[in-house]
Amino acid sequence: MIKIGIVGIGTVGSAVIKNLQKNRDLIKSRAGKEIKIIKGVVRDINKHKNIDIPLTTDYKEVTRNPEIDIVVELMGGVDKAYEVVSDALKHKKAVITANKALLAYHRFELQKLAKTSFEYEASVAGGIPVIKALRDGLSANHILEIKGIINGTCNYILSEMKKGRNYKEVLKEAQKKGYAEADPSFDVGGYDAAHKLLILASIAYNIDAKPEDILIEGIENINLTDIEFAKEFGYEIKLLGIAKKLDKKIELRVHPTLIKKSEMIAKVDGVMNAISVIGDVVGETMYYGPGAGGDATASAVISDIIEIVRGSKKPMLGYKIPLEIEKCSLIKSEDIISKYYLRIAVKDELGVLEKIAHILAQNNISIESFLQKPRNSYVKLLFATHKAKEKEIKKAISIIQKLNFVIKPINYIRIEE
Ligand SMILES: NC(=O)c1ccc[n+]([C@@H]2O[C@H](COP(=O)([O-])OP(=O)(O)OC[C@H]3O[C@@H](n4cnc5c(N)ncnc54)[C@H](OP(=O)(O)O)[C@@H]3O)[C@@H](O)[C@H]2O)c1
Repeated sequence: MIKIGIVGIGTVGSAVIKNLQKNRDLIKSRAGKEIKIIKGVVRDINKHKNIDIPLTTDYKEVTRNPEIDIVVELMGGVDKAYEVVSDALKHKKAVITANKALLAYHRFELQKLAKTSFEYEASVAGGIPVIKALRDGLSANHILEIKGIINGTCNYILSEMKKGRNYKEVLKEAQKKGYAEADPSFDVGGYDAAHKLLILASIAYNIDAKPEDILIEGIENINLTDIEFAKEFGYEIKLLGIAKKLDKKIELRVHPTLIKKSEMIAKVDGVMNAISVIGDVVGETMYYGPGAGGDATASAVISDIIEIVRGSKKPMLGYKIPLEIEKCSLIKSEDIISKYYLRIAVKDELGVLEKIAHILAQNNISIESFLQKPRNSYVKLLFATHKAKEKEIKKAISIIQKLNFVIKPINYIRIEE
């Protein structure tokens, strides 16, 4: 029998307990052994009266328990979770976590500590087995690109906005339905997606970057004009996590993105997640499914348990030997090259367009298409540019923003083609 200690019995933890019981015979048959949770760690034992597992508030009763083989960390957070997981690894436990925030900051340190198995399938895109796909199924490939809808809350909000509903109204509804937290800034600001992107990128490229090192923008500034523009020009707006290999440099970024309607990933609406991975051998592959929720996430956690019970001991990030010949470095955010969409609200005056076009040209930005939307007291100018450098677009925007006929903050969205 394999004995498990579970740290955190909230949404995911209780779904793991429930589903281990529900599919007990199948799981035993697949794993080859009986699996039993023998201890749980929570903050407040009184909240968990109907759980028939012995509970404690002291994680060391699990991480240092000689009877326990696998520690499953489902508490969330960074510092305390790091303390718990590293203590478990130091005491030679196999570890499973669903904690993307922990891994976004500490995955390389934890990899060094992990002398036994360390699995984390649920940390990216909940129930979708994308980590196993990238680390195992695609291990023969150089990964050329990863493009993912990896935050269900943002995808739900953007999908609803296509129906003409405004951002604030949809966000409130998402909170009511339990898709968004009471403080939604982590999701809508792009940070949750960035954590997941960093995990995927370290499997694809063995690159150790922190959230502070990469470009992260959220969906807070998207409005219905942007949605109208997208419709008119055959685009969808999606919050994407993008990782690309350009020669020996790696580009990592999270931001709202205009993508062509014909792309498969553009068709993914609602709370669902989808990830496209392009390998040099296989070509494009796609992974789609529920990115959150107790049961979907438990499905991934239990698959990790089965994998460890079967005796699998994979290198945590997928590399037995570091990839020295091809050490990749991160492209600076300011050097990223993309096409851009710009929304500029101006007073209806003569010469406005000419002045803006001149400033764009001075900064090496050429206009691909242009649309003008008159409003009651002002005009909205919508531009799509040819490829330009991030720092030049930012410089042009800061100059244009100061012109006295510009009446609102300029918004921009990168176009991915
Ligand atoms: N929810 C999802 O859909 C989802 C999807 C993918 C990944 N994840 C990840 O899974 C992890 C768990 O998420 P969740 O939604 O299940 O969280 P949750 O519902 O908030 O549950 C957290 C659990 O951890 C316990 N806990 C928190 N801090 C603790 C501490 N310092 N000491 C002891 N116990 C502590 C809590 O105890 P009390 O019950 O006593 O408060 C609770 O049982 C997170 O890392 C999250 O990012 C979640």
